[in-house]
Amino acid sequence: MLQTSLTEMSPSVDEDVPSFVNTATAVVDAVNPSSDDPDWWRSAVIYQIYIRSFADGDGDGTGDIAGVRSRLGYLRDLGVDAIWFTPWYASPLADGGYDVSDYRAIHPAFGDLEQAEALIRDALALGIRTIIDVVPNHISDQHPWFQEALAAGPGSPERERFWFRDGLGPNGDEMPNHWISNFQGDTWTRTTNPDGSAGQWYLHLFTPEQPDLNWNHPGVRAEHEDVLRFWFDRGVAGVRIDSAALLVKDAALPELSENPGPGEHPNTDRDELHEIYRSWRGVADSYPGTRMLVGEIWLPDIERFAKYLRRDELHTAFNFDFMARPWDAEKLRESIDATLAAHAPVNAPSTWVLSNHDVTRPVTRYGRDDSSFAFASKRFGTPVDLELGERRARAAALLTAALPGALYIYQGDELGLPEVEDLPLDQLQDPMHFRSNGVDPGRDGCRVPLPWSGSAPGLGFGPEGAAAPWLPQPASWQKLAVEEQEADQSSMLRLYREALRIRTASPELHGPEFAWIASPDGVLSFSRGDRFVSVTNLSSAPIDLPDHAKILISSAGLVSGRLPPDSSAWLQTQQ
Ligand code: NOJ
Repeated sequence: MLQTSLTEMSPSVDEDVPSFVNTATAVVDAVNPSSDDPDWWRSAVIYQIYIRSFADGDGDGTGDIAGVRSRLGYLRDLGVDAIWFTPWYASPLADGGYDVSDYRAIHPAFGDLEQAEALIRDALALGIRTIIDVVPNHISDQHPWFQEALAAGPGSPERERFWFRDGLGPNGDEMPNHWISNFQGDTWTRTTNPDGSAGQWYLHLFTPEQPDLNWNHPGVRAEHEDVLRFWFDRGVAGVRIDSAALLVKDAALPELSENPGPGEHPNTDRDELHEIYRSWRGVADSYPGTRMLVGEIWLPDIERFAKYLRRDELHTAFNFDFMARPWDAEKLRESIDATLAAHAPVNAPSTWVLSNHDVTRPVTRYGRDDSSFAFASKRFGTPVDLELGERRARAAALLTAALPGALYIYQGDELGLPEVEDLPLDQLQDPMHFRSNGVDPGRDGCRVPLPWSGSAPGLGFGPEGAAAPWLPQPASWQKLAVEEQEADQSSMLRLYREALRIRTASPELHGPEFAWIASPDGVLSFSRGDRFVSVTNLSSAPIDLPDHAKILISSAGLVSGRLPPDSSAWLQTQQ
């Protein structure tokens, strides 16, 4: 038995999920996702759903809204406050849906608008809010705006919504600049004119199928605010903003200098962004309750990062610094300190994230010699000790759930799924893999469909007779399936459920109180309020626990009363 929980497990409820059929207007009237607690987002547990891979309701091998609706009871039993959907809109899926061709339509493989509205209501009826993903930096090259721009030609108002430029050199065949894509490779693609001659170039920080929008254009701004309203009207409680620090470009499109000063980078973290988010906050605040904005902001400068979290801007942003750190007590402590210090002056809660649909799963990452995360260093064939990784991922689950602020859980981490590192090459789909010329394994390995039942075909991802899941699941996942883990008291799933149950029931875990407790090297101990202490042992030897009245939960069994390496425990310090 890996887990020792000294409290009773919460019973798993399995009632039918109510379903509603609504029109949008009915939703607007009935759904006010934030009326009861305006501060819900400050310490919420938010579960990320990569919809393609969560659950397949219609049996076509791809996850969908029907699948999510059928599993809402699972999410309630897990104890989450909100679900965040990666893009579910109409899209050619050139980048897993981060290439949106219509924000007001659901991708037909995932369902339709009516189902999305019903899902938002069903979830809310169980106390679960819905957060959607908005991708303002770029749209799909199949979006009508881009198609119109191609057709309208150079100098047209339609091209003003994007970054079209003539090429350099006598024949215009040199790119306008040499910015490097976040997906490696060039950021410019040359168009072809209707008569077949070579045309202008357009900018794309990601793939050529994702042309960047020009945020100096008032129509681009107005459209996105309208998209926010469209979804707030349908009862969503929050918006995750993709690539939130990239929208604004220096219109001169200069080459990147070696060491740009703060705010001087030509396409990242430009000061003009703040005004955009103030305006978005105005839209969010015009709705009842709190509609939360969370930014995807990768910035090494934590003070610049915190500026986005000022009172009239975004509510929160993902804390990738913590996520990218190795399993090392000093490095994690340093990140926790820097995070809390940077958030305090703007009175924003921090977020704690162990992974998402872009990064290597924690069980795999923490089982490697170098357990830090960086996109640039992902390689096939990196040796891994999955048992060690699982022990650490369990400990990390308790560590992060005990820290002050909001907690994000990526689907499948609560099952301890490892990264799938041996997907057949001909089934890989991620452009990061292809744009690296096959050197980077890409992100498919953390996007493999979830296992629900070890004994069913496709591990229960779809209904009986369903097509095979869109990416193959490893046979070793049978034992990691939800059904199997529900029956096993020591499973990762039971650990997560119990930890979230304790978190929800403990008022001290919802406020900002946090204090380090002196502890030996390699150990992270801190208190939250007067009665709660979390201890994580990252050292190589068992440790004594600080004085306590009761052990609430631990990620591994104690050894002669001591907490073994790579494990965490939560303590109640007074009766
Ligand atoms: C960040 C998203 O999380 C990632 O999946 C996507 O590829 C890029 N932004 C581009 O939209």
